[in-house]
Amino acid sequence: MYIAAIDQGTTSSRCLVFDAEGRVVADAQREFEQILPRPGWVEHDPSEIWESVEAVVAQALERGGITAADLAAVGITNQRETTIVWDAVTGEPVHNAIVWQDTRTDRICRDLQGAVGQYRFLDSCGLPLATYFSGPKIVWLLAEIEGLRERAGRGEVLFGTVDSWLIWKLTGRHVTDVTNASRTMLMNLRTLDWDDRTLEAMGIPRAMLPEIRSSAEVYGTGRGVLEGVPVASALGDQQAALFGQCCFDEGDAKNTYGTGSFLLLNTGNTPITSRHGLLTTVGYRIGDEPAVYALEGSIAITGALVQWLRDNLGLISSAAEVERLAETVEDNGGCYFVPAFSGLFAPYWRSDARGAIVGLTRFVNRGHLARAVLEATAWQTREIVDAMNADSGAALTCLKADGGMVVNDLLMRIQADVLGVPVVRPEVAETTALGAAYAAGLAVGFWSSRDELRSQWRAAARWEPVLGDEAREAGHAQWKKAVSRTFDWVD
Ligand code: G3P
Repeated sequence: MYIAAIDQGTTSSRCLVFDAEGRVVADAQREFEQILPRPGWVEHDPSEIWESVEAVVAQALERGGITAADLAAVGITNQRETTIVWDAVTGEPVHNAIVWQDTRTDRICRDLQGAVGQYRFLDSCGLPLATYFSGPKIVWLLAEIEGLRERAGRGEVLFGTVDSWLIWKLTGRHVTDVTNASRTMLMNLRTLDWDDRTLEAMGIPRAMLPEIRSSAEVYGTGRGVLEGVPVASALGDQQAALFGQCCFDEGDAKNTYGTGSFLLLNTGNTPITSRHGLLTTVGYRIGDEPAVYALEGSIAITGALVQWLRDNLGLISSAAEVERLAETVEDNGGCYFVPAFSGLFAPYWRSDARGAIVGLTRFVNRGHLARAVLEATAWQTREIVDAMNADSGAALTCLKADGGMVVNDLLMRIQADVLGVPVVRPEVAETTALGAAYAAGLAVGFWSSRDELRSQWRAAARWEPVLGDEAREAGHAQWKKAVSRTFDWVD
């Protein structure tokens, strides 16, 4: 028997099938359209998301010579915060999905601050008011689509993040898990229920919201391509990576380098409120066990900057080429690139920021630019680690890395130098899908315990820092100066 994981990400949908040792036995992936109607707006077609998921599941099963009957369970992991509202009867989406990177709710967020400010809902949800989260996106939809508010009040339309949309498509149940719910701003972190005060302040009817369940339990049984398969886990993709990296103990941390990068630190059964711009979020909840919380540093743009270099500038023809180009030079030649394309997320939360390349001279060439692109990921991560160290009172001693960008050895080398601590890449780099598979497998008894899962985790590569402290701190000061140049760019 096997466990399948659906990984519905920002730019592609994937399906991976794992065996009992946590090895990938089959894999399929499909990219889908990024709809960019205006500057700052990012949408997906929910129907295309669903079709891409159906297609990759069928393809992965076919490639592995596996049928639905060979699957003990399927787990779901997904791009978080992305907001979908659909008709409860027909299943027709009322609008394109509004993606987490979309900044159209900037004004709504500022209005919601009232006299209290950006941290008005912090006590309840652990998040600052920002365009990133689902709540303000729902507010936008309710305000913009005629009659939607009334229909929502009657439960005729349903809201869901992508996990919820997929579970509804697969099983007909309208549920979400605690990790995804913790990214809406609407869930109270302590009660793990929708927070009435927040719902009232945002004018969001409870009737349109899914039931909040744990991250590992059987929500229902699959239909269609997954006929009869228990749908047994849901985790936001960053929380799934935390789980897949076996960060089960308080103090364990991982960084996933994807479209953006997301560093999560397990803080045990207590939600810790950040004083340094990090988010408090649910890490996972297995069945009836108490929830495990995490501090998160979210960076909006890291891998997406490499894509931008390829697609918007044509400076490279494949993402892999950025490493070769960056290797042609010794250093960044004095050039820094701050990719504040969606404003700046943690630790700044500045929606008025926009991207900047600074330090340019005639000396700077394509190689330096490529190097600055990789360094942007490393420096943004450094800022998160600094905030995390300050919040937790303990210094990170080693960073577990995963996600698409970790195949870039130069980036990993730069990252160790910029942090001054070792960086470790696990044998199974597909930790996001693995985390969803692990949670689903635990829910149906395919795996017996977290200790069993931990015994499967092995490091594949490790980078030690070689840069001296003085050079590291000089680079850091330049980076900070570059960041300050991006502020106040839009009203
Ligand atoms: O919060 C956004 C995050 O979940 C997106 O992850 O991997 O799809 O870029 P990814």
